Amino acid sequence: MRSVSIIGIGLTKMGEHWHLSIKDLIAQAGSMAIEDSGIERKQIEAVYAGCMASGRLVGQEHIGAMTADVLGLNPVPATRLEAACASGGVALRNAYMAIASGMYDIVSVNGVEKMTEVSGEDASFALGGAGDQETELFMGATFPALYALMARAHMEEFGTTEEQMAAVSVKNHKNAVHNEYAQFRNEITIEQVMNSGYVASPLKLLDCSPITDGAAAVILCATDVAKKMKLDGKAVEIIASAQASDTLALAHRKNLWETRAAKIAAEDAYRQAGLKPKDISFAELHDCFSVAEIMAIEALGFCKQGEGGKFTEQGNTQIGGTIPTNTSGGLKAFGHAIGSSGVKQAIESYWQLNNMAGKRQVKGAEIGLTHNVGGSGATAVVHLFRKV
Ligand code: COA
Repeated sequence: MRSVSIIGIGLTKMGEHWHLSIKDLIAQAGSMAIEDSGIERKQIEAVYAGCMASGRLVGQEHIGAMTADVLGLNPVPATRLEAACASGGVALRNAYMAIASGMYDIVSVNGVEKMTEVSGEDASFALGGAGDQETELFMGATFPALYALMARAHMEEFGTTEEQMAAVSVKNHKNAVHNEYAQFRNEITIEQVMNSGYVASPLKLLDCSPITDGAAAVILCATDVAKKMKLDGKAVEIIASAQASDTLALAHRKNLWETRAAKIAAEDAYRQAGLKPKDISFAELHDCFSVAEIMAIEALGFCKQGEGGKFTEQGNTQIGGTIPTNTSGGLKAFGHAIGSSGVKQAIESYWQLNNMAGKRQVKGAEIGLTHNVGGSGATAVVHLFRKV
């Protein structure tokens, strides 16, 4: 397998973009990544596009071909990848594998979602498709409800508290203040989270990631080719790429307080890189709901099973803590434009490892980890990164 690196990144600001179409979002992020990498469009050999629900959300399918088209990359092969909220991570992984295998030298990876064109109710229904239609969505269970069940199980099993979950949101909002691309750049307090009103008990409004429009893109290149073309100045190598699956329905899981696919993907990623959780300098996690970050730090081995709440409350995941998580602001405060999130996590890793993260920089960052989850954990993708 060949070494693969990120050589350029592009991102839109996250939020409600009434004046920008899905094409505009893809064009902004994708063009920014091409310019950032220093390559010419004609050097790109393939396009990988992560997107979950554009059919329901904007009435547009065929996002792979559309991405190649709006970026002026025809006639290269262009493929859309869908794995619910892990669509971006899966697009990154498939692009990585295409270069690692020797098939291509340079590819464009894109992720997008435009979610605010429909009502909140319709967005919830579209997102609900990431779970099991028969036993969940059609029975009225939205995603906040599914994660609420997981939160309850974690509380019952380990004594995790609502305040501990709130601490995840407080930290992520604090980090987002320093990220110009983030949707919410305001600090919040535990008290504000606790008083923000239940969406699905025990999860409150400020435990939830928002509905977001946005896009993200990276250019991947074989590391030796990037070096030969002298485009490796800011190159960040992908040193592990792992993916695992679990049951679609929560009802079919052994328990609701752990995310097994994430655990298995993480173990595989650590094995590929010959690293351990203690070697990771920072992690971008899939905090679609605050409890999800607590379950993630347990699955990734940053703390023991069941201790994620306490570990967070003690400040271990803050910048300056033992393992800073979601320095970007996470899905909670950065925003969660579904198909873009797995790609955006790689971008934060690129910034951190190039010492470009400004006031949210993790000092001496050497190894980054990203954790992107689809649905309630049926898909999990873990990547590890280091500076070339
Ligand atoms: N965090 C902070 N503020 C939020 C927010 C969030 N997650 N969601 C909405 N808001 C704010 C809005 O900015 C708005 O503020 P304003 O009145 O100052 O403009 C206000 O709350 C009301 O916004 P609205 O869009 O009407 O909220 P809503 O009640 O329709 O939706 C949620 C709130 C939590 C239900 C919705 O964001 C949601 O479904 N989130 C989860 C998304 C999801 O499931 N993703 C997939 C995960 S796997």
